[in-house]
Order: sequence, then structure tokens, then C-alpha cells
Amino acid sequence: MKILVTGGTGYIGSHTCVALIEDNYEVLILDNLSNSSQRVLNRLKTITGKPVDFEKADIRDRAALDRTFSRFKPDAVIHFAGLKAVGESVSVPLRYYDNNVTGTITLLAAMAAAGVGTMVFSSSATVYGDPPSNPIREDFPIGPTNPYGRTKLIIEQILSDCHAADIISHITLLRYFNPVGAHPSGLIGEHPSGIPNNLTPYIARVAAGRLEELPVFGDDYDTRDGTGVRDYIHVMDLAAGHLKALETARGLSVYNLGTGTGYSVLEMIRAFEKASGNPVSYRICPRRPGDIAECYADPSRAEKELGWKAVLGIDDMTRDAWRWQSANPEGYQGEKHQYE
Ligand code: NAD
Ligand code: UFG
Repeated sequence: MKILVTGGTGYIGSHTCVALIEDNYEVLILDNLSNSSQRVLNRLKTITGKPVDFEKADIRDRAALDRTFSRFKPDAVIHFAGLKAVGESVSVPLRYYDNNVTGTITLLAAMAAAGVGTMVFSSSATVYGDPPSNPIREDFPIGPTNPYGRTKLIIEQILSDCHAADIISHITLLRYFNPVGAHPSGLIGEHPSGIPNNLTPYIARVAAGRLEELPVFGDDYDTRDGTGVRDYIHVMDLAAGHLKALETARGLSVYNLGTGTGYSVLEMIRAFEKASGNPVSYRICPRRPGDIAECYADPSRAEKELGWKAVLGIDDMTRDAWRWQSANPEGYQGEKHQYE
């Protein structure tokens, strides 16, 4: 099968491409490189032993999409491309609606024109907003609390309408919880530019001595140690979930991809200290606006219907995140490669 992967040079996309290629799928990555490096392609080749077809293009560029569909003739699309910074989405909402929503509409129109009837979409646990209880099931109330989350919800609704109108026959919405970790080779991983917004890249940089101390956003939540609890999931488990979603795609479905276990910020700090052998200094700070106390998945629907279950634990996540961080302190910077 041939899979067009939008956003495939990004963090989750690149790991999913490894899993796809290793499972003998033929892959074409389409990415505008707005938040990723072309150097990823070289790393993918090193890991898999195969070159990866790449198109530098924006999902809002219909002509580029049409050219790519007619050249590659994919059987399915995995759609990762999107902007994802919650705080930024509050300051520049139109950029988020344009990139994520308009981009997806353009992509869907190009898929329909090319007769491609299967899509797996990167949604997010953020669509649940502040859940009434945990663990969160797929039928829980939906109510994102920021523009980024609303782009995900709007796209889910557009996809559902496209399915109902039989424009795209098979659509799987994957609601990721908190992806962390890296490929065990240490060759690909997550390298946010500037000061990281998310917890684990921040902790990794403190453990590496590149940032002084971690701000812990609140220790007065109603959780076991007062700090926020999240369902961290290894990015390789997440990648495996996409393969199961492709194999089983039939009609419209929605799945939580999480482990079902929540860890607090202080527990993540301790796990990183153990993995790195380095101390992680932190300071308790005020709560971050918009944060919730606790969020973890009920992943049982994915287990039952996709035959997928997360198998990697917190020690695997922190070990692999640390291996990537130590081997690539500047991310993909500083490496020359054949595509430049
Ligand atoms: P990422 O930023 O590393 O990857 C996204 C990729 O999409 C980047 O390579 C970027 O260059 C590309 N892109 C963005 N806009 C584009 C456009 N208009 N045209 C073409 N390419 C474009 O992010 P990620 O963490 O790998 O996330 C992948 C997807 O998963 C996103 O849709 C994100 O919203 C979703 N998601 C991520 C998380 C998370 O915590 N990382 C959680 C839930 C959902
Ligand atoms: N945290 C800190 N200090 C930091 C960063 C985070 O204490 O410097 C805390 C947060 O308060 C929260 C936890 O660590 O309790 C996790 O925060 P992240 O920013 O890593 O992740 P979020 O759960 O806020 O959100 C992430 C993505 C969203 C995605 C969501 C899915 O940023 O895009 O996971 O569950 F939708």
C-alpha cells in the first residue's frame, strides 16, 4: 500500500514513517517544513535502509497536492500536518484556523478529486477540554478550551460530514494523549525551537544542563502530589497505533491513543533523573492558565477494535527521550546531508 503522510518530517510523523517503511508500506512525505527539518529524511534512510520520497509543499496549495496525488497515487493519507502550540493559537487564532482547517479542507478536496478514500487523522485529547472524570472514554463530552483544540474539533466534524456524504469512505480519528520519547536509535526525536512549551523536552534540557530549572506549573491541584497528571505515551507506541488504524480502517471511527496511566509532573521529573543520572532542578510556579488537573485515557476501545495497546512504559519513554537529547543537543542542526 502507498501512504501519503502529511507532516511526515515532524515529530510523530517521522516515527510513524519508520514504522510504515519497516512494515513495507511505500511512503511519500508531504511537508512545508514550517516546524521540521529536511534532515529528518536522511535519518529515516539510516534507520530503515530505504530512501523516502519527499515533496516540500503546503497542504493549502491545491495545485501542489494535485501534482503529488497524480504522481504518487496513494491508497490512503495519514494527516499529521498542522500547527500545535496551544499558547500561540490563543495569540494568532486565524493562523491556526487557516493552516489547520483550511489546509485540511484543501487536502480533502484533493483526495476526493484523486479518488483516495481513506484517511487517518491526528486529533488530540485536547478536544475533551476539562473532563468530568478520568479515565476519559471516546463518548465523553467534547469541549476544547483553546483555538488549537477547536481546530481539531472542527476538523473532526468536517471529516464526519465528508464521511456521511461518502466523499471519503474510511476515516479514523486518533485522539492522542501526551506523546513523548523518541526512536530507540536516538536518530529521530522531538526538538522544539526556543524554550519548550511541553514538559518532557523542557525536563530533558534541564537534565542536560541547557536550561537551569523547570518551572512546575502549580502544586495545588487535586492530584496525588498536587502537580498536573497526564497520560504520557511513547511515540513508537503511537506510531504502531497508526498502522493498526490503517489495517482496520472501515467507515468512521474514533480512538483514544493513550496508556491509561497518568503520571504527575514530579513523577516525570524523578523518572528523568533516573534515566539521565542527572539532577533536574525545579521551582514551583503559579498554575499555567488553561491547564487542567488530570487527564488520562480509557484506551480499551482501541485495544478491542484495533488490536492495539501501548506496551512501552515510563522508563522506556524517559530512556529514549534522554538518548535522543544527549546525542542531538541541537536537534537536527549542525548535520549536513544529501538533500541540501
Ligand atoms: P510537528 O510540528 O512536529 O509536526 C507537524 C508537521 O506538519 C511539521 O513537520 C510541520 O512542518 C508540518 N506542517 C504544519 N503545517 C503544514 C502545512 N500547512 N502544510 C504542510 N506541512 C505542514 O508536530 P507533532 O507533534 O508531530 O504533531 C503531529 C500532529 O499530531 C499535529 O496535527 C498535532 O496537532 C497532533 N497532535 C500532537 C500532539 C503532541 O503533543 N505532539 C498531541 C495531540 C495531537
Ligand atoms: N508543565 C510544567 N512545566 C512546564 C511544562 C508543563 O509543570 O514547563 C506541566 C503542565 O502544567 C501539565 C504537564 O506538565 O500539568 C504537561 O504539560 P504539557 O505542556 O507537556 O502538555 P499538555 O497536557 O498541556 O498538552 C499537550 C499538548 C497539547 C495536546 C495535549 C494532549 O501540548 O497540544 O498534550 O493531551 F493536545
